[in-house]
Amino acid sequence: MNRLWSHTLKGLSPYTPGEQAQSSHIVKLNTNEHALQPSSLAIAAAQQIAPEQLRRYPDPTSAHLTRAIAAANTVSEDQVLVANGSDEVLAFAWAAFLSDRGTIPAIPSLTYTFYPVWAQLFGHGIHFVPMRPDFKIDIEAMTAWDGPLVFPNPNAPSGIGISLESIESMLSAKPDRLVVVDEAYYGFGAASASELISRYDNLLITRSFSKSHALAGLRVGYALGHVDLIEGLRRVKDSFNSYPLDAIAQVTATAAILDTEWFKQASDTVQKNREDLTQNLTELGFSVLPSLANFVLASHPHHSGLAITEYLRTQDILVRSWPNEMLLPWVRITVGTIEQQSKLFSALANYLSS
Ligand SMILES: Cc1ncc(COP(=O)(O)O)c(C=O)c1O
Repeated sequence: MNRLWSHTLKGLSPYTPGEQAQSSHIVKLNTNEHALQPSSLAIAAAQQIAPEQLRRYPDPTSAHLTRAIAAANTVSEDQVLVANGSDEVLAFAWAAFLSDRGTIPAIPSLTYTFYPVWAQLFGHGIHFVPMRPDFKIDIEAMTAWDGPLVFPNPNAPSGIGISLESIESMLSAKPDRLVVVDEAYYGFGAASASELISRYDNLLITRSFSKSHALAGLRVGYALGHVDLIEGLRRVKDSFNSYPLDAIAQVTATAAILDTEWFKQASDTVQKNREDLTQNLTELGFSVLPSLANFVLASHPHHSGLAITEYLRTQDILVRSWPNEMLLPWVRITVGTIEQQSKLFSALANYLSS
């Protein structure tokens, strides 16, 4: 702590990202990257970037990418804003809509741990709505909250999804409050709220290329919503960083979203591998929550999540667990390739039989 730090900075507990092991022999199932390589068309687009595009500043509006995202989601271009990962989109949303005194946003008590950090940085607090005993979001309690709502669908780290009817009940119950649906895990089986955008001007959806398009290294995310909400985000973006997306990110993400064949096949593969993961973990004695994401949350009756994580690390397999009381029995495992998952099952079988 430094005497020059602001009051806000002194009170800030920054987000801790998952470990990013760079060694290729490690089976990395700890930060929910996609199991497959990105679209070959996206890789080719990145490789073909002209030097002139690097010499110049990038397009501050990411017009080509914005157009491709709008077309893919049947919305107009002024209903889309792209930024540097959905984390940046969410940070813009916090600064734009969730930072007023008096209207404190509510989030589920078990969810993405970046939300409370933005609340500290930009906001005036946050309200935690307790989870139901089965780890589902308490829809009635969320709907009853007076202020804005923020939650992922499917939720993290549970992977559990909620229905469009539930989202609609939150939107229609209080048309003057914002509902932010974080669809970071879009494309793995959960219903998207995008069809509600035309009817609810209080809905903001955030999405990421990190998971759905296997481009976590590129840092591209976007928001979909009513033009006035997107304009609000743009005002924050242009008051913070008018060029959030570099030239390589813009061309690569554009090629990726146009490759609809890759997206379909890759999403099918993740869903098939998730079934394999769930089934094998269940056979090994784990309870596995029903996931619509590219990870599962699993617990074993005799071993804590932390103990399992530590053992797997000795076998060069990374998974994620937390020293948080509610999550102590649980371990979160990213869906991998079938080969990676086989290594995981062998290691777990050895551990459980020793
Ligand atoms: C629920 C949730 N929202 C947002 C993000 C951020 O994604 P991005 O890589 O687009 O910043 C993550 C990343 O893990 C996440 O789990």
